[in-house]
Amino acid sequence: MEKKNRISLNIICAAIIMLFVSASACTQQPSDDDAQLEAKVDSVMSLMTMEEKIGQMTLYTSGFDQTGPTVREGYKEDIRAGRVGAIFNAYGAEFNRSLQEMAVEETRLGIPLIFGYDVVHGHKTIFPIPLGETASWDMDLMQQTARVAAVEASAQGLHWTFAPMIDISRDARWGRIAESAGEDTYLTSKVSRAKVRGFQGTDLGANNTLVSTAKHFVAYGAAKAGRDYHTVDMSDRTLREVYLPPFKAAVEEGVGSFMTAFNEIGGVPATASEYLFTDILRGEWDFDGFVVSDYTAVNELIPHGVAADSAEAGALALKAGVDMDMQGAIYHKHLPDLLEEGVVSEDQINEAVRRILRYKFKLGLFEDPYRYSDTEREDELVLNEEHLDLAEETAQESIVLLKNNDNVLPLDENIGSLALIGPLADNQRELIGSWSAAGDYTDAVTLRKGIENVVSSGTEINYAKGADINSDDRSGFSEAVQVANRSDVVVMALGEAANMSGEAASRSEIDLPGVQQDLIREVLKTGKTVILVLMNGRPLDLTWEDENVPAILETWFAGTQAGPAIADILFGDDNPSGKLPVTFPRSVGQVPIHYDMKNTGRPMSENKYTSKYLDIPNSPLYPFGYGLSYTSFEYSDVNLDKTELTASDSLAVSVDVTNTGDVEGEEVVQLYIRDMTASVTRPVKELKDFKKIALAPGETSEVTFYLSHEDLEFYDIDMNWTVEPGEFKVFVGTNSRDVNDASFEYVTQ
Ligand code: BGC
Repeated sequence: MEKKNRISLNIICAAIIMLFVSASACTQQPSDDDAQLEAKVDSVMSLMTMEEKIGQMTLYTSGFDQTGPTVREGYKEDIRAGRVGAIFNAYGAEFNRSLQEMAVEETRLGIPLIFGYDVVHGHKTIFPIPLGETASWDMDLMQQTARVAAVEASAQGLHWTFAPMIDISRDARWGRIAESAGEDTYLTSKVSRAKVRGFQGTDLGANNTLVSTAKHFVAYGAAKAGRDYHTVDMSDRTLREVYLPPFKAAVEEGVGSFMTAFNEIGGVPATASEYLFTDILRGEWDFDGFVVSDYTAVNELIPHGVAADSAEAGALALKAGVDMDMQGAIYHKHLPDLLEEGVVSEDQINEAVRRILRYKFKLGLFEDPYRYSDTEREDELVLNEEHLDLAEETAQESIVLLKNNDNVLPLDENIGSLALIGPLADNQRELIGSWSAAGDYTDAVTLRKGIENVVSSGTEINYAKGADINSDDRSGFSEAVQVANRSDVVVMALGEAANMSGEAASRSEIDLPGVQQDLIREVLKTGKTVILVLMNGRPLDLTWEDENVPAILETWFAGTQAGPAIADILFGDDNPSGKLPVTFPRSVGQVPIHYDMKNTGRPMSENKYTSKYLDIPNSPLYPFGYGLSYTSFEYSDVNLDKTELTASDSLAVSVDVTNTGDVEGEEVVQLYIRDMTASVTRPVKELKDFKKIALAPGETSEVTFYLSHEDLEFYDIDMNWTVEPGEFKVFVGTNSRDVNDASFEYVTQ
C-alpha cells in the first residue's frame, strides 16, 4: 500500500476510532445500528472538503460499456482527483479493483468508489427479459434469479444494480416494455418486492449482495404514443393508484436507491420534481436511501425547457432531491458556484453526501474496499452449472402457449423429420435480449441446438433461415419451402431482433418485422403443420398468425438457456405454464390497452353510439393473464364464506380447480375484484391475488384466497385512501377474461 493511501485510510479509521473507542468500522462487518452508522458518516463528513463532497455526488460511466448518449474521457483522472464517488458500466474483478485502487490509494481521504451497472435480468447468466420472466408469475423464482444475478455481479466487482425497472407499461409500441413487469400494478408490485429482496439479500454488508435501484421514478412507461422519452400527462389519481405502488413496495422492502425518469409529468420533468422526490418519496414514504438521476437527465432539464443553463438545471435537481448526478457532470461543474451564490445550501449538499456515504458503509466498503472484487469467486460463480439450471427453469416457466389447435403440441421426440425455419431458429445473438448487462450471446444455446439435443437420433432436422428479421429480402423463401416440403412438421422461429425493444427502441407497427409474415404464408402453402415459436420484447399484433397458424409459443427473449428450455416445451418434457403479464392487442390501434379499463358511460354494445371501433372489437387478441397448457383445468363456481365483509374481518374466496387432462400441469389461479359503485369510477377488474399450483391428471385442489378491506381500498373523490361501502364483485379464473364470479357487500359496522 502506498504511503499516501495509508495516510488517507488512517485518517478515516482514526476518526471512527475516536468516536467509538473501537476499530469496528475498519475491522468488522458494518453495524446495523443507525446511530453508529450516522456517527461513522459524520466522522467522514467532518474530514471532507466541499469539493470532495461534490465528488461523492458524481457518477461517471467508465466507457467500458455505453448505455447513453455520452462517454467521459478522463474518468480515471477524475477518480484520482477525488472528483467522482461512483462509476458505472465497469465490471470484472480485476478491472474494478484497479479503479478502486485509484480511489482508495491515490485520493486524499481514500473514500472507496461504489460501482453500479444495469444488472437487470442476470449478469453473465442471462435469464429471460423481465417481461418474459414475469410471465412465470413465480415470485420465488424471480427472487432467486435476482439473487443469482447479484452473486455473479458482486463477484465481478459490482455493488449496485440499476434494477428493478418497475415502470407500469401498457403501450406495446414502447421498447422498454421489454424491461418491465408489464401492465399491472399488483403484479409489478410483487415483482418489485421479489427483485429488491433478491438483489439486496438480508445483509447488504455481505460480499454477494447489491444495492438495488427502483427505476424510473416515475410514469416513464406512459410516454405519449409509446415514443421513448416522450412527455407524460396524467391525473394524480392515476399516478398514485397505478404508477406509484410498485415504487412504494420497493421502499417497504428497503430498496437502497431510486433513479429519476427522463419524462416530464404534467409540465414538470421528473428529475426536477420536488413533488416526487421530496414530498412523496421522502415525505410520505420515509425513503432514506439515495436518489440518482438517469443518464444525463439533469442536463436534459435544459431541452425540456425548465432550465436556461446547466447551473440552473443542477440547482433544480438538487432542490428536487436528486443526490447523485449520473454522467452529466453538472453537480461537479456548478455546485461550488451555486453554493457560493446561495442558490443551494450546504445542508442540501451535506444531506445528499450523507445518503450516499451511508450506503458505502452499509456495503462494507470502508472495511474492505476490494471485498467485491475477487477473481476466485468470479471464476467459481459466473455461469456455473447451478446458475445455468436456474436459467433453464426460469425460461421454461416464462414461456406462454398462445394457441394449440388440435393439440399439435407437444411434438413427438421420435418424429421422422422436422423443418426448422426462421431467422431466430439458429440464432445466438438475439436470445439474451436487451439490457443483458455483461451477458455474452456466445454463451447462449440456440433453439436449433436445443432441439438437436432433445430429438431421437433418427430425427432429421432440415434447417433454413428463410428470411432476415427485418429486411425485404425474399431470396431465402424457396429454400424454406423446400425444407418444409421434405419434413413431417415445421417449427418456425420468428420475431424481433433484441435491439428492436429496450431503450430508444419504440416501434409504430407491432407486427412481425420485415417479410416474416410472408415467409409463414409461403410455408403454409406446403400444407404442413406449422408451429410458430416467437422471440420478441413486446406484445405483437398476432391477429393474422392466430387465424392461420395452428400453434403459437411466446418465448420472449428467454436468455442463455433459451434453446433447451424451448425444446423441452416443444417436445413435452415440460408443460407450459406462463401467463401473459400484458395484454396482446388485435391491432396497434387498440394501444394502449390493458385489462383494468374503466367501463365508460356507454360501454360497448350492438348500439352504434357506444364506445367501440368500427373495424375491430374492443377485446384484445389475448387477454392479460392468458396462457394455455398441454392439459386443461376446470374451475368450480366461486364460493364465499360470507356475503358481507367489514373492516375487521376477511372474506374467504374459494374455488376447486381440477386438472381434467392427461398430463401434470401448473396453473396460475387469478383473483380479480370490481367495486360496482363508488364516488369515483373504478376499473372493470383489478388483480388482487394469484396462486400458482401444480396438479396431477385428475387431481382437484381447493384454492382459497382471503380478501380484506385493504384489498378494496382506493382514492375516493377527495383523494382519501379508503373503502366505500357497497357491492363488490369477485372473479376467479384462468385469465382476466375467463372467470367465474360472485358478489359481496362491504359494510361499515
Ligand atoms: C437508462 C437507465 C440505465 C442508465 C444507465 C439510461 O439510459 O434509462 O435505465 O440504468 O442508462 O445505464
